[in-house]
Amino acid sequence: MSQESLSPAYLTRLAQEFGTPLYAYDAAKIKQQYDKLTTAFNNSNTLFFYACKALTNINILRYIRDLGANVDCSSVNEVKLALHAGFPPERILYTSNGIGFDEIEEAQSLGVIINIDSLSNLEKFGRKFGASHPVGVRLRPGIMAGGNLKISTGHDKSKFGIPVDQIEKVLSLVEKYQLEIADLHIHTGSEIVDPDVFVKGIEILFDLIPRFNHLKFIDLGGGFKVPYKDGDSETDIQLLAQKVTKAFESHPNPGGRPLQVWFEPGKFLVSESGYFITKVNVIKTTDAATFVSVDSGFNHLIRPMFYDAYHRIDNISNPNGQPRRYSVVGNICETDTFAWDRTINEVREGDYLVFYNAGAYGFEMSSNFNSRYKPAEVLVKDGQAHLIRRRDRFEDLLRNQIEL
Ligand code: LLP
Repeated sequence: MSQESLSPAYLTRLAQEFGTPLYAYDAAKIKQQYDKLTTAFNNSNTLFFYACKALTNINILRYIRDLGANVDCSSVNEVKLALHAGFPPERILYTSNGIGFDEIEEAQSLGVIINIDSLSNLEKFGRKFGASHPVGVRLRPGIMAGGNLKISTGHDKSKFGIPVDQIEKVLSLVEKYQLEIADLHIHTGSEIVDPDVFVKGIEILFDLIPRFNHLKFIDLGGGFKVPYKDGDSETDIQLLAQKVTKAFESHPNPGGRPLQVWFEPGKFLVSESGYFITKVNVIKTTDAATFVSVDSGFNHLIRPMFYDAYHRIDNISNPNGQPRRYSVVGNICETDTFAWDRTINEVREGDYLVFYNAGAYGFEMSSNFNSRYKPAEVLVKDGQAHLIRRRDRFEDLLRNQIEL
């Protein structure tokens, strides 16, 4: 398990000060992860675009901007948030999928880099902009990779990207509209442990590169795996850097010019920085399990229910308590199991339970289901805890409703 930077005692103080449920992020951990990437790829022409769909709090975006990273967006609203956070347009990438052309037009007017993932939108782009705005193409490489099917995106049944076997159609649009294709993009999935998956992607792209005359970048997407439990595997970034460098060395100057490599890590940068702190409402003993109900549910952390994701859970109020087996559930009026039959130090009502690795796709995928408030968020930076989002209030539930 990776280093825990915020201690149980500190997390307890945060819970007491800001209330629960609470997302807390450790800025130092984000920096540590970013440094791991830049150090490993130190001698290569590589850029990192933070896939901000993982966590878009404006303060996180600004922090990551200050570290020197670029940003990858999945909607035009994320693009606007990135601009609001102070990223200049040339450091913002918009990797669109399945969107209306109006959104691409808007992104174009904002001056950001755009990856297009359908022949239909590429044609519309060509018709409207021709060579005036270089553009990237997202391809579907036909690679099965990723932690589970829901987060696998590069295989041959995936909706993402233009299948590589339709490359002739891409090329004929390029010719028809004199498009300047600046990058070829692939993203094969999330939680990819094996660096060879990226090498395989590169090999597929190498065959295509000589056919695009204006290429400057190749974009290998995100998906680096972080450990969620003891002994869990993680992507060896050092090895990845070596393998990517070697792959490029074996194809010097494909297409006759040096290409910059881009990655779009989301989880890798923010997952381990995040702690989700909850409070135990009720303990219920049954024949099947001892249920521990916390003041949260899948409305706040959907990953266990949606992906069967494992999040380590500790009782930070009783770290020396006798280990027992519990099923940790939420308070949502629907089955919302966080963990089944998990060993945790003895739990009492009122204890704080912390979920680790909650920085990526935690708050970001939260909702107001059951008319519950979204949690507050806190950023711990230079030893100071800053509230970066207040907890919802009752008026937030009515904010956009129109009462007739
Ligand atoms: N680039 C593109 C085009 C993507 O679609 C994604 C994630 C990323 C980069 C970043 O992937 P990451 O480095 O975070 O694995 N909600 C799921 C993960 C969905 C990922 C969607 N796309 C989860 O909680 O596991």
